[in-house]
Amino acid sequence: MNNLLLCGFMGCGKTTVGKRLSKTLSMEYIDLDAEIESEAGLPIPELFRLYGEPYFRDLEHEALSKLSHRISCVVSTGGGAMTFQRNRMAVSPEDLVIFLDASFPVCYQRIQGSDRPLLRTNTLEEFQALYENRRAAYEQAASLVVNADASPQQVEAAVLEALQAAGFPHK
Ligand code: S3P
Repeated sequence: MNNLLLCGFMGCGKTTVGKRLSKTLSMEYIDLDAEIESEAGLPIPELFRLYGEPYFRDLEHEALSKLSHRISCVVSTGGGAMTFQRNRMAVSPEDLVIFLDASFPVCYQRIQGSDRPLLRTNTLEEFQALYENRRAAYEQAASLVVNADASPQQVEAAVLEALQAAGFPHK
């Protein structure tokens, strides 16, 4: 077992739960979006606005590909990362991907005031369709699926339980 990657829609709790898990498991924490921002020197909304989504996706792919040089990290991916085949294929077979599966109303309620570009540039209907369309990709990417509607403490506990059942860290 190498890195633990968290995937799922915006607002599913990847960052909050990821930070908690890294402390509990004494593993380094990596926020893929933060890596992209520091590499580019710009916040994500600016990257989308100035250079467009495809440019951001290329940076995201580069950041994800660099994870193969890292070990024993908890990684929060951005909500779109695991929806691209090239990114799913860039994940090492030694890494474990966990899908934090929160319902759409819960995700939406958690992020509604934020400046996430895809939230700001889509109608609510389009945003919900994005959520529905991405589920299959998250399921395909992940070997563990954990319901993520509850509090961060409860979701973290559910992830730890699922990891234990999967034999972590001796997998
Ligand atoms: C995105 C999700 C964001 C960020 C970018 C694109 C997406 O990350 O990577 O705005 O395509 O779902 P979070 O899931 O952490 O909000």
